[in-house]
Amino acid sequence: MNFLLINGPNLNLLGKREPHIYGHQSLADIVLVLQEQANDAGVKLEHVQSNAEHVLIDAIHQAMGKVDFIVINPGAFTHTSVALRDALLGVNIPFIEVHLSNVHAREAFRRHSYLSDVAKGVICGLGAQGYEFALQAGIKYCQEHSV
Ligand code: DQA
Repeated sequence: MNFLLINGPNLNLLGKREPHIYGHQSLADIVLVLQEQANDAGVKLEHVQSNAEHVLIDAIHQAMGKVDFIVINPGAFTHTSVALRDALLGVNIPFIEVHLSNVHAREAFRRHSYLSDVAKGVICGLGAQGYEFALQAGIKYCQEHSV
């Protein structure tokens, strides 16, 4: 099974960025834990983080036909990007949307996502653990759909 983990803008600052909201763990720390989880499950996990929308879109395009499942924290692009939605729909790869913070308990503009209604699931407010749950759920999804 091939998984792709995508992290959008400003998530490279995790650990330093508003730690009271996003926690103290760096993105590298989070990815390390996920790599271990993936290795234990016999899953290949690739990771891309970018602050540029087109880089994320290109990564999604390149995943077509190669990646079985995507775990994505689109950062602020969640609330703005029709292009990211179209890319995910275009490659037809199932995905789970993850947010570290509870976007429903924050500013009103964070409550709308361009991705949630086309995601297999959405996890928010559970911090870095949300990625682990998403990976676990994605693996189960692929097993159940004989990927
Ligand atoms: C976020 C929530 C978004 O609203 C915000 O723009 C982010 C991070 C989260 O993980 O909680 O950059 O996706």
